Amino acid sequence: MVRAVAINGSPQMEKGNTALVLASFIQGMMDAGAEVELLYASRLTVKPCSCGVMYCWDDGPGECCIQDDMQLLYPKLKAADVLILATPVYVPLPGDMQNVVNRLMPLIEPKLERRQGRTRARFREDVGIQKIVLVATSGWREVENCDTVVRIVKELAEDASTEFAGAVLRPHADAMRADGKVTRDGQAVLDAVRRAGNELVKEGRMNQETLRGRAMK
Ligand SMILES: Cc1cc2nc3c(=O)[nH]c(=O)nc-3n(C[C@H](O)[C@H](O)[C@H](O)COP(=O)(O)O)c2cc1C
Repeated sequence: MVRAVAINGSPQMEKGNTALVLASFIQGMMDAGAEVELLYASRLTVKPCSCGVMYCWDDGPGECCIQDDMQLLYPKLKAADVLILATPVYVPLPGDMQNVVNRLMPLIEPKLERRQGRTRARFREDVGIQKIVLVATSGWREVENCDTVVRIVKELAEDASTEFAGAVLRPHADAMRADGKVTRDGQAVLDAVRRAGNELVKEGRMNQETLRGRAMK
């Protein structure tokens, strides 16, 4: 069975556009038999990385010296096959989400290697994550508004030597609802997102045609 951890970085949490899209993605994964745990970055207490000297690489390998809710998250992440990072575009990330991403460092091992002209590390052996997926929503119409966030998550996957399994992107996300209700077009997007989640679990990849560039890259 595929086990996934999804972290939603929106301060709007359950009420936000990101939660709307993420819920369909998770439903698609669960329909295919996956077990998905959903956490909200803003509900956790995750302080910024403050040691600044790579304690988790040098002095206490694999350990973070900050005692906060990241300590609850580390074992969940180690046990997961798939990590879903879900976020609104905030030029580029909401602060709570940025803290979570920075604090993933103890899961990464400083066995550095050169690949395609870049220095890369890898997840430690006790980390099961095989795939990282991005779910992002943005306010403006062009999907390119999500490019910086896509780049961040791609870089993270490269630095962990794990697969970037794709991005479910929904620009102009407010247009999915009118008067608080999901519109017909919005529902078409959510249905496609649900299929993408289903494909990820059943086929190990999301079909690039599923959302035909409208919501996925
Ligand atoms: C501080 C802040 C910065 C934002 N920056 C951008 C941006 O650069 N580009 C964009 O398209 N939308 C931007 N947005 C809009 C959000 O990405 C968009 O409304 C998103 O769907 C909100 O998701 P949520 O409801 O899950 O929080 C910004 C919103 C906020 C509050």
